[in-house]
Formats: sequence, C-alpha cells, structure tokens
Amino acid sequence: MNDTISPESIVQRQIQVPSHPVWPELTDLELAASKSRIKKLLESRNAVLVAHYYTDSNLQELAEESGGCVADSLEMARFGTVQSAKTLVVCGVRFMGETAKILNPEKRVLMPDLNATCSLDEGCPADAFSHFCDQHPDHTVVVYANTSAAVKARSDWVVTSGIALPILTHLAARGEKVLWAPDKHLGRYIQRVTGIEMLLWQGSCAVHEEFKSIALERIRRLHPEAAVLVHPESPEAVIDQADVVGSTTALIQAVKKMKNKSFIVATDSGIFHKMKQLAPEKQLIEAPTAGEGATCQSCAHCPWMAMNSLQNLEQVLLTGENEIEIDPEISRRARLPIQRMLDFARSHQHEKSG
Ligand code: 13P
Ligand code: SF4
Repeated sequence: MNDTISPESIVQRQIQVPSHPVWPELTDLELAASKSRIKKLLESRNAVLVAHYYTDSNLQELAEESGGCVADSLEMARFGTVQSAKTLVVCGVRFMGETAKILNPEKRVLMPDLNATCSLDEGCPADAFSHFCDQHPDHTVVVYANTSAAVKARSDWVVTSGIALPILTHLAARGEKVLWAPDKHLGRYIQRVTGIEMLLWQGSCAVHEEFKSIALERIRRLHPEAAVLVHPESPEAVIDQADVVGSTTALIQAVKKMKNKSFIVATDSGIFHKMKQLAPEKQLIEAPTAGEGATCQSCAHCPWMAMNSLQNLEQVLLTGENEIEIDPEISRRARLPIQRMLDFARSHQHEKSG
C-alpha cells in the first residue's frame, strides 16, 4: 500500500454486481397464506419487521400490517431503538442490519439474506479507509451509513442522506475540514451545498451510478410539466437537473406534497410502491438508465435489496438463522458516531418544529 493516500489515488474497486434473484410468483391465495404465517411467526418470536422502501412491495405491506416500519435508513435506525420486541428482522441491506445491531446490542437482529450487501460498503474496505484517515489526522471523519461497522468505528460522525446536509452545515459553521466516504457523488453534492472543505473517497452506488443525464434531458423535454426527483447518490449531471434532491423519504414526500401531476424519479424503482400508495393520482416516470454508455446491470433496482423476499423471511423466522454478529469492541466504537447522528437529528427536528 502507498504511504500517502490522496482522494485522486483511490481507485474504485470493481464491485461484482449480482443478477437479480428470481422469486416464485405467488397466487393471491398463496400470498395471503404466506403473510398470515409470517405474522404468526413474528408474534410468537416477539419480532418486528424493519424494511426499506426499495424492498419488494409485499414485504413493505407486511411490515406495515404487522406493526413494523417501512422507512429510509435514518428512520430504520431510529425505529429499532424504540421497540420493545426482542428481535428485529431487517429487510434491506447488510449495513442496515449492522446499524440495528450496533444500536441494540441486547436484541437479536436477523436478516433474510446476509449476502445482501451494498456497492458503497464493498468499495470501502476498513483497512484502506483507516489508512486514508491516518494520512489526514486534521480532518473530521464523516461516513455515510452505507458502510461496514468497522468503517463506522473509525469515524467521528455517521450520516444518512436524510440528515447529511444539516450535519455538514453544522460542521462547516465550526470551520471543520472533512474526510468523507464512501459516496463521491453524495460527497460532491454536500460540498457544493454547504461549501465545506472535503476530501472524498471515490465510491459509488452501482444502482444510482447508472442514471443517464443526456437521456434524462430528452425525457424532460417530453414531460416539461414533470418535477424531477433525484437521490443524491446519482451522478452530478443528473443531480443538476433535479427539482428536488433528497433521501428516499424526502422524494416520497415531494410526490405527495408538490402540485405537479407527474414526476420523473431517479432512484430505485422499489420506491414507487410507497409513492403510488400515498399519491395514486400522480404519474410516475422512471428516470432512464439506458442511453450512452449504458450497462444496465441494475436497471434502477438494487440487486441486493432484491435478495429479500417473503420466502427467505419466513425461513429465518422459522430457523433463527442469519443473525447479525459484530465484534463487541467495533460495535462499541461504531455506536458513538451513529448515536451522535441520532441525537443531532432529534435536536434538529425540535429546532424545526419549535
Ligand atoms: P435512504 O437513506 O435515502 O433511504 O438511502 C439509502 C440507500 O441505500 C439509497 O440507495
Ligand atoms: Fe447500496 Fe445503491 Fe443498493 Fe442503496 S441502492 S443499498 S446505495 S447499492
């Protein structure tokens, strides 16, 4: 490994993007029976479901019908901390399960598939990241929630897309210089909005990276009345065309609250389920992943999120397998920056509502 690591010298590791798993189609009767069995299992295991907006719509419905939650990664983290249930079943990707375990070490945290990772997490190995931090001791280390427990343990702050701007605005006001990882697009966006001095790790999301700016311009010309909603993990030229840039929750709220009748949405297509539920009269158009240089490995649907299904959820509830385990010392250290984020989010919320 080189002695000096500059952001420019960080080359994004080639992440193997898996193909989408194919789950058996269920008839309406089978679906109802499966949901009913899972609800009984949740009750008998004293377990609650915590699901992300990108997961299968049946899982999202089941989570809400059974008293669990469907949320963005900030709310998923918070929700787990206010549950009396002894087991949290996290339907999402691995960093979400790890965050739940770090915040609730006394609870059992299960996931339908422990292989459900994230390209951002995979692209930021803890040893190389730690070395990068060692090179820049005068920088405050801020990491995106989409990272491993070991990377979080090396940080001063963890942020999700839902709270990144307020936290980095706060750090900018204190005159701090930031070392940011792993998402270069989100990092660049934060830097532009807050003006903070930042060193950027060069990771990216395999799903949002595929949105195409030139093809998006064409679609906007076809739908001039549509508002453009973009998740900040998207490339700069896509963010530049947005009417709203924000977390999954912020984009869902925009569909509900904005007067526009149609929306072009640049994020994982799993989000359409909640958007349609809250605003069935609105027209939703997928932002293009085709066009110049298209690979369409994900086609706007995260293959790791797609690893969660009713079938493997029922299996883990039956067997208790796929439990998240984290080295206690790493967990203890990772908890501080995550808790710092949750505390900041709470006081920021109070400020806004008070
Ligand atoms: P949110 O926190 O906005 O839900 O984003 C999580 C994520 O992984 C987006 O790709
Ligand atoms: Fe990670 Fe991207 Fe999947 Fe979100 S959509 S979990 S950032 S790979």
